[in-house]
Amino acid sequence: MTTPAHVIVLGNEKGGAGKSTTAMQIFVALARAGHRVGALDLDLRQQSFFRYLDNRDAYAKRIGKPLLMPRRMNVTPSNAISRDHAAAEDQAQMAKTLAELSRDCAFVVIDTPGAVTPMAEAAHIAADTLVTPINDSLIDFDLLGRVDPVDGRVLGPSIYAEMVWSARQRRAARRMKPVDWVVLRNRIATLDSRNKRKVGNVIDELSKRIGFRVVPGFSERVIFRELFLSGLTLLDLKTNGPVPLTMSHVAARQEVREMIKALDLPGVGPIE
Ligand SMILES: Nc1ncnc2c1ncn2[C@@H]1O[C@H](COP(=O)(O)OP(=O)(O)OP(=O)(O)O)[C@@H](O)[C@H]1O
Ligand SMILES: [Mg+2]
Repeated sequence: MTTPAHVIVLGNEKGGAGKSTTAMQIFVALARAGHRVGALDLDLRQQSFFRYLDNRDAYAKRIGKPLLMPRRMNVTPSNAISRDHAAAEDQAQMAKTLAELSRDCAFVVIDTPGAVTPMAEAAHIAADTLVTPINDSLIDFDLLGRVDPVDGRVLGPSIYAEMVWSARQRRAARRMKPVDWVVLRNRIATLDSRNKRKVGNVIDELSKRIGFRVVPGFSERVIFRELFLSGLTLLDLKTNGPVPLTMSHVAARQEVREMIKALDLPGVGPIE
């Protein structure tokens, strides 16, 4: 029996909050730390994570230098008409795929679409660490819970939070260890201090009610968009970069390192 890989799922039900970007940053950080990483892209329509990796492959060929790559696998969602049937088939396929990747990977990074599909649900059940980026500049609370717009009171969980809850119960029923649910504040903008306090209070209350922890994410920086085409991430920049390293990039690299540290993944020390 091989040791099961630690599964990291990027999930939320909103587009553009940073799932694919964060998936890529996490993969490169783990690979640089010397771990073999498996990769799944469940966003079959956009395939941003795998297109990012294709760009990386092409860039490596262009510069004539190998770049760290994950072991990719594809999954095909069930086309069963009954949702229960599709869910069962997708869960079985997810388990099989993860078992195969566990043969030589210590981690598997799974990017999901901004929608709850049976395959995305299967990934949430398999997640040891669930990373949910929220768009901090737009304060995407409704992704996590319903919040009273006037006084900021938490009224109840969102549909996504309920899906995570049911995935948790399934893990418990299978005697798997509880998921570590981490909300990552992405595209952090400078808010005034009153607003900041209000945001902090709502997040605190939500985190207690719904059961996640909050980790620092990334500031709003153009470099995150620019790197997609070359398939590089901030941690690659020093040695392979198409652009000279600026102070802003150095600060962004530090944010990536802090994020990885805060994820507290098994066997992962400080990242170079
Ligand atoms: N911190 C950031 N600063 C600036 N741009 C960012 C930042 N994080 C992500 N982006 C950009 O925002 C866009 C959306 O990010 P990304 O594709 O990672 O989101 P997503 O959650 O995967 O979206 P989808 O649900 O559509 O798959 C991308 O163009 C990405 O480069
Ligand atoms: Mg995406």
